[in-house]
Amino acid sequence: MPHVYTENAHADRKPVTAPALRAMKDDGRKIVMLTAYDASFAARADEAGIDVVLVGDSLGMVVQGHASTLPVTLDQTVYHTAAVSRGLSKALLVADLPFMSDRDPAFALEAARRLMGEGGAAMVKLEGAGHICGVIEALVERNVPVCAHLGLTPQSVHRLGGYRVQGREEAVAEQILADAHAVAAAGAQLLVLEAVPAELAARITRELDIPTIGIGAGADTDGQVLVVYDMLGITPGKRPKFSKDFLAGRGSVVEAMAAFADDVRDGRFPAAEHQY
Ligand code: KIV
Repeated sequence: MPHVYTENAHADRKPVTAPALRAMKDDGRKIVMLTAYDASFAARADEAGIDVVLVGDSLGMVVQGHASTLPVTLDQTVYHTAAVSRGLSKALLVADLPFMSDRDPAFALEAARRLMGEGGAAMVKLEGAGHICGVIEALVERNVPVCAHLGLTPQSVHRLGGYRVQGREEAVAEQILADAHAVAAAGAQLLVLEAVPAELAARITRELDIPTIGIGAGADTDGQVLVVYDMLGITPGKRPKFSKDFLAGRGSVVEAMAAFADDVRDGRFPAAEHQY
């Protein structure tokens, strides 16, 4: 059935909190997450009923035009987070810790203070496991909600040798599974799984109590995230296999976002062609 956007359909919903995401997993309700970098896109995402808005360091690529996320600074992320925060009233606001701001717990705590205190974020996201688990513990101990990020971690692009699917080989898949358990044990309340085989993401989702959000990780995660410029067909170059142009054939940005949300909630997105 074609998607029909109803204005103000989500006007009465309650603000989304970190514990509410866990309840959504427990109830089998899909979590819909989208990136945003400014107040206007954030307001449209809220209007479309998006649950979680991420100020991703993808801003370095899709807004600033860099080849990677590495040049994004903490000052820039705080600036964009504050702008997004002014546009939101319902969605949970998550902000990325930029490259190297998780290098030690003290630095990450100060970065989180700025992203939450100045930027208005309600959760911070950081990539990887290993020493990052100690950073997650330090943040959680100081009441900072944490979203972990495993699989293709774009801040490791030079070590990985490119933006490639992770976890096709058994040993790498086992490591990602072990890392998922480790970040959850460290206290992360949400886990993004990027560009991993659908089967691996489904196993992690089954084994963890915390919600998983997939991007290129198949349909069997607890939610989905896309980069907003990818799903509106704005990003130059080839669209990633896991994304889809939701604006094509629709009249407005908010309709495209609402169609994405409906397709995730009704299990139409991602389809087989969007997964590995
Ligand atoms: O930076 C970003 O936009 C992200 C999403 C792709 C999850 O990390």
